[in-house]
Amino acid sequence: TELPAYEYIKISTPKPGVGLITLNRPKALNALSTPLFLELNDALRKLDADKETGAIVITGSERAFAAGADIKEMKDLTFSTAYTTDFIELWSSLSHQIKKPIISAVNGYALGGGCELAMMADILYCSAGATFGQPEIKLGTIPGAGGSQRLTKAIGKSRAMELILTGDNFSGKQAGEWGLAAKVFETAQECLDGAVGQAEKIASYSRLAVKAGKEVVNKSQDLGIREGVEFERRVFHSLFGSKDQKIGMTAFAEKKKPTWSHQ
Ligand code: CAA
Repeated sequence: TELPAYEYIKISTPKPGVGLITLNRPKALNALSTPLFLELNDALRKLDADKETGAIVITGSERAFAAGADIKEMKDLTFSTAYTTDFIELWSSLSHQIKKPIISAVNGYALGGGCELAMMADILYCSAGATFGQPEIKLGTIPGAGGSQRLTKAIGKSRAMELILTGDNFSGKQAGEWGLAAKVFETAQECLDGAVGQAEKIASYSRLAVKAGKEVVNKSQDLGIREGVEFERRVFHSLFGSKDQKIGMTAFAEKKKPTWSHQ
């Protein structure tokens, strides 16, 4: 797929099947302005539709994953405009519309909307020295892109409440200890390489099965255990109608490597 040249992000294919999006607004520490998010959504939609892409990685620079929503853009925003334009709603296509797995590789600052963007990904990796936080309270406001919900689900109410009401930062090391990050790496390069490596692994499997896997895990966030398990079983049953289930299990029985049809 031909991707347009973007101004605030960069796109590459570091490994087969992996679409890498690098936030690239260094002068503002990757502050997530509306123009940046429009580009990000456009790139995500194109990668989601791209046959060659099996998984997506979002990263920033060594200094900043993203230092938040763009404060200068929000400074003079009125209630009326925020409400009528459904400000920040634009951000939710990432978590609600993109069906391929997204890994965030977080180095440097992931503050406010940056922390929220990182948490919207399906898997979060970081380096030990990354700086997370929801500092909105210091600006006279609160998280607006899901932080109060996702952080609380990930690390529990007491810790999330403390972080959101004090605006204190926390490190990548802590993010790992609290279960917010799936893996914590020593350096920024190791974090990015690790994320790309896992994305490549995911991209090497049946696209159909990976899509179903993401769908059922995400359902656990909205459903109770009984409905969730029933939903999973239905999707599991449906995969017996796929070619890749036959390919995968036949290959196992014949001691061969499967070649996925993605169907
Ligand atoms: N929005 C707009 N510009 C930002 C920004 C942001 N969130 N974060 C940093 N910048 C800009 C700075 O204004 C500065 O620009 P100038 O050179 O034009 O002055 C440039 O990026 C570099 O930043 P600093 O000079 O401040 O760099 P530093 O190393 O001294 O400090 C920092 C780094 C601690 C991350 C500091 O920049 C900072 O505190 N940033 C804001 C963090 C924040 O409050 N984020 C939450 C935003 S609100 C939000 O996200 C709402 C939501 O829930 C959706």
